[in-house]
Amino acid sequence: MKIFLDTASLTEIREGAALGVVDGVTTNPTLLAKESGDPEEILLEICRTVDGPISAEVVATDAEGMVREGRHWAGLHKNIVVKCPCTAEGLKATKILSGEGRRVNMTLIFSPTQALLAAKAGARFVSPFVGRLDDISTPGMELVADILQIFENYDFDCEVLAASLRHPMHVVEAAKMGAHIGTMPYSVFAGLLKHPLTDIGLKRFLDDWEKAKKEMGAKASR
Ligand code: E4P
Repeated sequence: MKIFLDTASLTEIREGAALGVVDGVTTNPTLLAKESGDPEEILLEICRTVDGPISAEVVATDAEGMVREGRHWAGLHKNIVVKCPCTAEGLKATKILSGEGRRVNMTLIFSPTQALLAAKAGARFVSPFVGRLDDISTPGMELVADILQIFENYDFDCEVLAASLRHPMHVVEAAKMGAHIGTMPYSVFAGLLKHPLTDIGLKRFLDDWEKAKKEMGAKASR
């Protein structure tokens, strides 16, 4: 499963990228609004930091405006993927942008039928929002499973990007069912690596090694 960071924070993206296992980044207007600085500059710096798909979302709500913004975002850097919301206007814009060879990530997907339409419109990625469905007592991960099952029957060039992942178990579930990509906040990403038994085990190895070296030194000086 490819791992994307769901953040516009350059500090987090640099730290994550340094580990060598980050394949892309998703941003949205909320995430970009949290950062200080010009969003365009931030996106360009993200593209220079991670050589993979970097999602930049349109804020227009009509197809014409989305296409205009999408062309602008995609023209900034080869890594940029245009994020369009899953609305009627978003579908129209996706059809046009994908027809021009631009990659679209259709976002705010909450049903299998939305994902099917997005793929038919030429979206390169669909983003089902797991956590936001869980928030309203609907099993978000079942949506990912349904979309994967539907896509298996056809030949869409469209990857399932499990989004709105809120904790490491969401990542485990998404990976177990074969989601192509999981995007997650930096805190969740960091949680994938941490294990107290690793820290305890490493400390014991190093302590034992130091002890053995001291004993060998003491023997040699006798
Ligand atoms: C995905 O592209 C979205 O930016 C993101 O995953 C939304 O997550 P949230 O529901 O935690 O805001």
